[in-house]
Amino acid sequence: MQRSTINAILAYTHALFEQHQVALPPFAFFTPEQWRLQALERYREVFELGLGWDVTDMGSDDFEHEGLTLFTLRNGSVGGQPYAKPYAEKVMLVRERQVTPMHFHWYKMEDIIHRGGGDLIIELYNRTDDEQCADSDVEVVLDGERQRHPAGSRLRLRAGQSITLTQGLYHSFWAERAPVVAGEVSMVNDDRCDNRFLRARPRFSQIVDDAAPLHLLCNEYARFLPL
Ligand SMILES: [Fe+2]
Repeated sequence: MQRSTINAILAYTHALFEQHQVALPPFAFFTPEQWRLQALERYREVFELGLGWDVTDMGSDDFEHEGLTLFTLRNGSVGGQPYAKPYAEKVMLVRERQVTPMHFHWYKMEDIIHRGGGDLIIELYNRTDDEQCADSDVEVVLDGERQRHPAGSRLRLRAGQSITLTQGLYHSFWAERAPVVAGEVSMVNDDRCDNRFLRARPRFSQIVDDAAPLHLLCNEYARFLPL
C-alpha cells in the first residue's frame, strides 16, 4: 500500500469515528514528530504489544474491497509475561463491501460488536481437521442467545448486536448499506501468528513510502523511532 493512501484512510477514519462519537486515547493522534518528543520508555507497552493503528489490505492490493482499518486499544502478552493483561480490545472501521477474508484464530476467542453504522454481515464455517471449511452447522452465541446456522450462513448484525467467535470458527465479514464501526473484545491478540486465512495471505501490508506518515502503524514503530 502507498503511504499517501494510508494517510487518507487514517484521516477518513478519524472523521468517521468522530461522527460515531468514538473517542481514542491521546497516542492515536501522535504524528511521528510528536512520538519523538515523548519519553518513549514510558510507552513500551504500546510498542511491544502492538497497540495503535493497523491499516491493512492483507496483500490484496485492493483495500476498498478487501482490507480493514483497526485501532488496538489494549492487549497483553500471550502466556501472561511480561504483560499480564489477559484481554484485548480493538475498534474497527469496516467499509461498505470491504471484506475481511475468511480466517480463524487458533488461540484467540473474540466478540465482534456492532457499535454503529450500516449492517455488519458475518459469514461462518466450522473448520475441518485439515483447516478447510466444513459443511456442518455452526453454533454461535449472539448477545447471550445460542443459535445454530447452516455452514456458510451470512448473519446480519445491526447496531448494538454482537457475536462470539470461538477458536477455530472460520469467519469473514463486511459492511452493507453504510460503513460500520465495530468493536472487538477478545483474549490476548497476536496478529503476527494467530490468523489462519483460508487462502494464504499476509496479515500486514507492505508499505511504499511515497509520503511522510501521518501516524505510525502498530507494526512499524521500531522502523521510525529510536526504541
Ligand atoms: Fe478474527
